[in-house]
Amino acid sequence: MLHPHTELRRINDEVGYGLFATRLIPLGTITWALDPLDQILDPYTSDQLEDQYHGDIKRYSWVTGQGKRILCWDFGRFMNHSCEANTYAPGGCEFEIAVRDIAPGEELTCDYTTLNLEAPLVCQCGTALCRQTIKADDLAAIAVRCDALIRSAFTHLRTVQQPLWHWVENNQMEINAMLACPETIPSVLQHRWNSSPLVSAGKSMGYL
Ligand SMILES: C[S@@+](CC[C@H](N)C(=O)[O-])C[C@H]1O[C@@H](n2cnc3c(N)ncnc32)[C@H](O)[C@@H]1O
Ligand SMILES: [Zn+2]
Repeated sequence: MLHPHTELRRINDEVGYGLFATRLIPLGTITWALDPLDQILDPYTSDQLEDQYHGDIKRYSWVTGQGKRILCWDFGRFMNHSCEANTYAPGGCEFEIAVRDIAPGEELTCDYTTLNLEAPLVCQCGTALCRQTIKADDLAAIAVRCDALIRSAFTHLRTVQQPLWHWVENNQMEINAMLACPETIPSVLQHRWNSSPLVSAGKSMGYL
């Protein structure tokens, strides 16, 4: 579920569409949360789909730290990447938070490196920190900065309006623990999916 104060706009022929704020979305606002109408596809199910779906699935879905594909049913699937994104998800969480004020007319962006991007993307974000070619392998290099932004944004969570609160209510205990102790908010490194059996086994045994 996408924040209600957003709309879809055409950017250009190369990037296509993007999501833009229609009003100020303050720092600390939850901008997207998983909702029951979003599709969650396990790797087997998405591989079994007919070939004609593979291109769209790869373009419009993202992969969680458990290797599940999330395909948003609403305009959430049109969120573009920026190397200085204004929304991020705490490690392992299925919601995103604004890490700075997002002005009316500003594009909402996330960082595809935290979403297990499957093929390198030549980036057109044009920001000062643009990494030019975005790869999932860059996650370790950007994690410290992303974690600091998320931890700082979290301290504003209870002071701003949260139209998506209903969609994170199931995460109340987790969120309260994060609010009580922002330094324990899980790192974005937890988003990394590694399908290698050895690494997956390590993850499930708590070594990674
Ligand atoms: C989830 S879709 C986002 C919606 C897309 N703009 C559209 O209209 O279909 C992901 C695709 O958008 C484009 N895209 C998103 N962020 C981009 C960026 N920073 N630079 C270049 N292309 C980008 C790429 O083609 C990417 O595969
Ligand atoms: Zn960039």
